[in-house]
Amino acid sequence: MIRDMASEEAAFLQEMLYAALAWRPDVELPPKEWVLEHPQVVVFHKNWGRDGDTALVAEESGRLIGAVWYRHFTESEHGEGYVDDETPELAIAVVEGSRARGVGGSLMQQMHERARREGVARISLSVDAENPAKRLYARLGYVEYELGDGLGRMILDLA
Ligand SMILES: CC(C)(COP(=O)(O)OP(=O)(O)OC[C@H]1O[C@@H](n2cnc3c(N)ncnc32)[C@H](O)[C@@H]1OP(=O)(O)O)[C@@H](O)C(=O)NCCC(=O)NCCS
Repeated sequence: MIRDMASEEAAFLQEMLYAALAWRPDVELPPKEWVLEHPQVVVFHKNWGRDGDTALVAEESGRLIGAVWYRHFTESEHGEGYVDDETPELAIAVVEGSRARGVGGSLMQQMHERARREGVARISLSVDAENPAKRLYARLGYVEYELGDGLGRMILDLA
């Protein structure tokens, strides 16, 4: 089941943000608490619930198994996927053990529908060149944005 994330589930969003950053199985990240406070990371979850913040979760047998979320940023405060103030930046993760079963694809498709309904024209994200998630994004219509700048940005045109 895919549904809106409840405000009291923000800790799950933080857990999934850490999972999204820890995508490389052979690289161990510093502890979650440290990573989540890093200036380049904290912008993705701090004060969750501000205008435009949107998060969906996937739930199976009463357990949360994945989340997708996006947030609008500004020139003065943004993540690597920033394109402009009108284009929210998306992030996603599915818990280990539940991956490659279509959960991530469903979460993203529902997020795209939600964004369209809310008048969002484009969505951006940032992904490492070696992350297999790139294939999923490309399949869903994301295209590389200003390739070669090292930011790994991809963008989806919702029009
Ligand atoms: C990326 C991710 C959210 C996709 O969710 P999912 O439920 O596994 O995806 P689906 O089953 O709908 O789609 C499968 C696609 O996801 C990607 N994928 C599958 N396993 C993956 C994994 N372990 N890590 C990253 N991407 C994976 C591939 O593109 C795959 O497509 P393919 O079958 O053509 O190889 C999930 O795999 C994940 O959480 N990975 C680790 C965190 C991460 O990389 N987040 C994105 C950071 S930009």
